[in-house]
Amino acid sequence: MKKIPIAPSPHTSPKSNHRRDGMSRRSFIAKTGAALVLPTFIPGHALGLDGAVAPSKRITLGIIGCGNMGTGNTKSFLNESDCQVVAACDVDKNRLNNLVKVVNEQYDNQDCKAYHDFRELLGRKDIDAVMIALPDHWHAMASVEAARQKKDIYGEKPLAHTIGEQQAIVRAVRENDRIWQTGSWQRSVRNFHKAAEIVRNGLIGTIKRVEVGLPRDYNGAETSEKDRMLPVPPPPELDYDLWVGPAKMIPYIPGRLHRHWRWNYNFGGGQLMDWCGHHVDIAHWGCDFDSSGPSEIEAHGEFPPPGGVWDAAKVFRVELKYPRGIEMTIAGGHPDIDGGTKWIGTDGWVHVDRAKFDVSNPAWKPWKQMPEELRKIKLYESTGHHANFLASVKSRKPTITPAETAHHSTIPGHLGLISMLVGRKLSWDVKTETILNDPEASKLLTRDYRQPWKLS
Ligand SMILES: NC(=O)c1ccc[n+]([C@@H]2O[C@H](COP(=O)([O-])OP(=O)(O)OC[C@H]3O[C@@H](n4cnc5c(N)ncnc54)[C@H](O)[C@@H]3O)[C@@H](O)[C@H]2O)c1
Repeated sequence: MKKIPIAPSPHTSPKSNHRRDGMSRRSFIAKTGAALVLPTFIPGHALGLDGAVAPSKRITLGIIGCGNMGTGNTKSFLNESDCQVVAACDVDKNRLNNLVKVVNEQYDNQDCKAYHDFRELLGRKDIDAVMIALPDHWHAMASVEAARQKKDIYGEKPLAHTIGEQQAIVRAVRENDRIWQTGSWQRSVRNFHKAAEIVRNGLIGTIKRVEVGLPRDYNGAETSEKDRMLPVPPPPELDYDLWVGPAKMIPYIPGRLHRHWRWNYNFGGGQLMDWCGHHVDIAHWGCDFDSSGPSEIEAHGEFPPPGGVWDAAKVFRVELKYPRGIEMTIAGGHPDIDGGTKWIGTDGWVHVDRAKFDVSNPAWKPWKQMPEELRKIKLYESTGHHANFLASVKSRKPTITPAETAHHSTIPGHLGLISMLVGRKLSWDVKTETILNDPEASKLLTRDYRQPWKLS
């Protein structure tokens, strides 16, 4: 990653230091003798979160990306009493200011510090953990730097924009001994857990086939953004150059910026990559493929006419062959594949989606009331995705969706996309994580960065 001098630790200097109970932080510390008076928040690591001392203090959290999901995640963290959001960063001042306001209103103070450049936020030694919800083309740069700066990370799905970048994140998290939670929050929802556990316990017999149904098109952006499709100068509140960052520079068009960047392969991966971190993630969980993957991938997509504002496939179908003879279809816009995840076995099936839980045998529905001998395999259980992350930061035990899991859950999507783009079937070596005998397709495992950005 490009090196800039990191500003000296920009400690917070709160204008208002008052808590809801009327006690200032300074007087609170003085009264409780909780710590020597420090000019800023006491980072959890200083209090022993990495080691033996009881983690009795709040985890200090920085927010990177104040858009749609960044705001949602921040609100979830604000509901958790064992963390304190102390900083937020966005290259769009309006979004940044809005979120800082939300945080300060919640804590009834002015302590959340605003940043334009995430490297400055990451340079703060008093921040324990960060939440990263940036467009996909930024995931790897921000996450690798965060791991290097010894932050624990709640990072959004898909893990990164390319398989090569995902490998870099996995490596950085491992080498720096960081806790990672992926935003694949479906694992923390009861019906998804139940569905995967039924399948893992073999109630549907031997798994033969898995169907994963994803949305098609562009979430209505064709209509909602139709008056914002022409290039114009970026607005003053937005640093468009930094927003584009390592991606190829293309003209600023309002309708493909916030939220709708994902329909352009320069920044995202269309519906396939937007959703495989959810429903393929669950498919893998049920099949016990968290460390495994497909060996053959063949995909077809229907693309918009060239030269348009967006270029992602609107309709797609990926056929994959997995170990144990399991076949998987991931499809968007194919009516024969229902939304969500469906495992089909020799003795039955399970189908789960956000508003659906269906099984071939109704006796499986009250799953926890079934005899213990049918439920021997117990999957990791979390009832709150953000709370699970914070608990892992304290315990140093893995979260429910570590980086390696997210890496494997999104490899099928990445390979499907590559197969669509080169127009042929691919062979994948799970162990070496390489595409076999196809130099052109292999080139798409990584991407070139705009100067001067580099992934270190
Ligand atoms: N887990 C989920 O259910 C879920 C749902 C939606 C989105 N997501 C993921 O969250 C991520 C963000 O998606 P979104 O819908 O919130 O997008 P968004 O466009 O609404 O928000 C992204 C924000 O990042 C900011 N940004 C861009 N470059 C930046 C930089 N260099 N430094 C600081 N800020 C920068 C943008 O200005 C914007 O405010 C994506 O990876 C997406 O896949 C996850």
